[in-house]
Parts: sequence; structure tokens; C-alpha cells
Amino acid sequence: MAKLPLYAAGITALFAILLVAAATEDNALLKQAQGIFQPLPKDMATAEFPITRERVELGRSMFFDSRLTIDANMSCSSCHQPAFYGTDALPKPMGVKQRPHPRHVPTNLNAGTSFVIHWRGDRTNLEDQVFQALTLPITSGQPDEKAVFDRLAHIPGYAPLFKAAFPDDPQPITLRNIATAIGAYERTLVTPSPFDAYLAGDQEALPPAAKTGLEKFINTGCVACHNGVGVGGGMYQKFGVVEDYWKATGSDPIDKGRFDVTKDPNDLYVFRVASLRNVAMTPPYFHDGSVAALPDAVKVMTRVQLGVSLNDADTGDIVAFLQSLTGELPVNFATAPVLPSGAVVPAR
Ligand code: HEC
Ligand code: HEC
Repeated sequence: MAKLPLYAAGITALFAILLVAAATEDNALLKQAQGIFQPLPKDMATAEFPITRERVELGRSMFFDSRLTIDANMSCSSCHQPAFYGTDALPKPMGVKQRPHPRHVPTNLNAGTSFVIHWRGDRTNLEDQVFQALTLPITSGQPDEKAVFDRLAHIPGYAPLFKAAFPDDPQPITLRNIATAIGAYERTLVTPSPFDAYLAGDQEALPPAAKTGLEKFINTGCVACHNGVGVGGGMYQKFGVVEDYWKATGSDPIDKGRFDVTKDPNDLYVFRVASLRNVAMTPPYFHDGSVAALPDAVKVMTRVQLGVSLNDADTGDIVAFLQSLTGELPVNFATAPVLPSGAVVPAR
């Protein structure tokens, strides 16, 4: 009988050792993850692009205001919809006057964490993106900047907002200032996720499957490209390192990627590595929205980027990790603001 407590103590000790081993392993994974990724900042203001409350408010209005585009029927938020985490859930969007866009809508959430903007990096920053979008045929349809200013002038509520946002400008309604204000708004759109809490040291923030998935995401080699604060968005890479991407995605037509921007043969089929933040909320996938489901997108990636074929269980674990990158919608994005009043006569 005296042996039983000893036996029990042995078991307890064994358990304790196993627990310590598991905790050590858990800590090793966390340490490794902290070396590869960074948590989101509280906003994406920079020295060059500081944020003021007035600019954010003005930018938010214009982001949701369809009166700026040619037929006054489409706003930034038509394609970057809150309900779809800043995307439109379509493979490719239809722009103003039913003009088709050749590429898929990426989310504007956390977009300021990327080193360049757009799939092919043909915009330098958020402000540059807006500056150009305001007069482009698909996103705006307005012939020139004057047409945009005319619209704003027809909406009396905007003048005081511009004055407040750019108090030192005698003529604050400029394309540059519109871009600065919408950019400032977008720089507030960060979505901290369970993974950020984990990176901050909270082991409980990730369910076991997500931790297993994180381990596989690291060990399979995804982190060679998807790393940093955006879990991507930090470099260019060829899409289709070991195999032509369209054989796996069924893409038609075939987009030559950054080559069409630079004409440099080294840029053939090169794209910005996509940020994977909120990726579970933003199907379909890739620059042309050619793949509908996340597990399939993960399998395409392992196949064409790494030359590995992934079984369903491993894919499921990686998807569980990717789901931990879903954050809450920012409150100033979840609902549309009350827009400045004023009628608009659409240009014909
Ligand atoms: C017709 C739909 C449409 C409208 C309207 C539209 N966008 Fe986009 N947006 C897109 C598409 C498509 C892309 C990807 C373009 C590319 O990569 O070539 C994009 C890209 C972006 C990106 C880049 C995200 C990233 O990860 O690089 C941002 C930011 C953005 N849009 C913000 C805006 C803002 C601000 C407005 C309003 C001024 C706007 N968009 C209007 C369709 C639209
Ligand atoms: C060699 C670099 C590289 C590696 C390795 C890599 N990726 Fe990617 N990933 C990219 C590029 C580039 C894109 C953008 C492709 C495009 O433009 O359509 C991308 C896009 C994605 C997308 C689609 C995102 C979206 O919003 O459409 C997912 C999901 C993804 N990667 C997951 C993974 C996973 C999981 C792994 C590991 C199994 C992985 N990637 C490995 C470079 C890489």
C-alpha cells in the first residue's frame, strides 16, 4: 500500500515534466514567431504622413461619398466594403460606367503596412494611390481634377471640413489635400487580431490548432515571403517559383505582373507578396480572384511557390493559423458616416 503514493508521485512528476516540456516548446514557438512577425501598431501614421482628427474625419467622409465620381454612384467604399473587410467579394470589380477592372480588389485595411501599394507595386503609398484614383477612368471617371473640385464645391458641408483639416491653406480643396485626408483616414484602419495578442506574449490568445498551423506555416517555408507586420506586404516575389501559377489557379488571361509596369524581364510574373492579415475574410484570392476558397489558395501557394504538396490536415492547420489573423473591424470603418449635405448634378 505504501507504494501507491510513490507511484502516484511518479506519475505526477512525469506529468509535470511533460507540462514543462510542452510549455518550453510553446515558448520556443512564441520566441520564433516574435523573431519573424511584428504586432500591428496602433495606427499607420508616419513622420511624412501624420494623422490629425480633422483630416481623418474629412477623409472618412470622402471615402464613403459617391458624389465625387462621374455618375455620383460609386465611392471608395463601393469596392472596399466594410461588410467584406474592405473588399467586394468578387473576382474583379466593375468600375464606373460598367468599366471592368483587370485585377482583384485587395483590402484597404492595414494597407499602410505594405512597402508599396497595389498588387504590382505601381503606387508608392496610400496617398499616391488616392491621388491617382481620383481621376482614373475605372475608379472615378472624372476627366480632370477640376471636375472633382466642382463636385466638392456643390456640397457646402465640405468647405469647413477642408478648412479645419488644412488651416494653413488659403485654397485647401486640392487633389493633394484630398489624397492626404483619405490617406490619413486609411492610416487609422488597423485590425489587431488574436495573433497580435499572441505576439505580445499571451499564449492563450491562439487555439492549439492555430499554434500547430503557425508551426507549419514557419516550417513549410511560407515565412520566407510572408513575414513582418503584415505577414506579407514586405517584398516582391515571382508568383510561380517552381511552376507557372496559372496551371494551378486556372487564371485567364495571364497577368504578367510587375513586368507590365517596369518592362524589366526580371519582373515577369512578379507581384507584391500579399499581406495575409484578415485573409480568411477576403475571398476570392490572388491578383485576379481566381481561387475561391482559402484552403485551395494555401495549396496553390505550397505547390507553385515551394514545390510541396500539402495534405488536408496540414492545410487545415495553416488555415486555422490564418484565421487568427482576423481582427475586429475598426469602428470608424464598420459604419458609414453622416455625409456633408448638398446636392450634386452629375456631369453628363
Ligand atoms: C471600381 C472599384 C474600386 C474603387 C471605386 C476604388 N478601388 Fe481601391 N482598389 C481597387 C482595385 C481593383 C485595386 C487593386 C488595383 C491594382 O493592384 O492594380 C485597389 C487597390 C486599392 C488599395 C491598395 C491596397 C493594397 O493592399 O495595395 C487601396 C489602399 C485602395 N484601393 C483604396 C481606395 C480608395 C481610397 C478609393 C477611393 C478614392 C478606392 N480605392 C476606390 C478597386 C477600387
Ligand atoms: C516565394 C514567395 C512566397 C512563398 C514561399 C509563399 N507565398 Fe503566398 N504569396 C506570394 C505572392 C507573391 C502572393 C501574391 C500572388 C498574386 O499576386 O496573386 C502570395 C499570395 C498568397 C495568398 C493569397 C492572398 C490574397 O489575399 O489573395 C495566400 C493565402 C498565401 N499567399 C499563403 C501562403 C502560404 C500558406 C504559404 C506557405 C505554404 C505561402 N503563401 C508561401 C509569395 C509567396
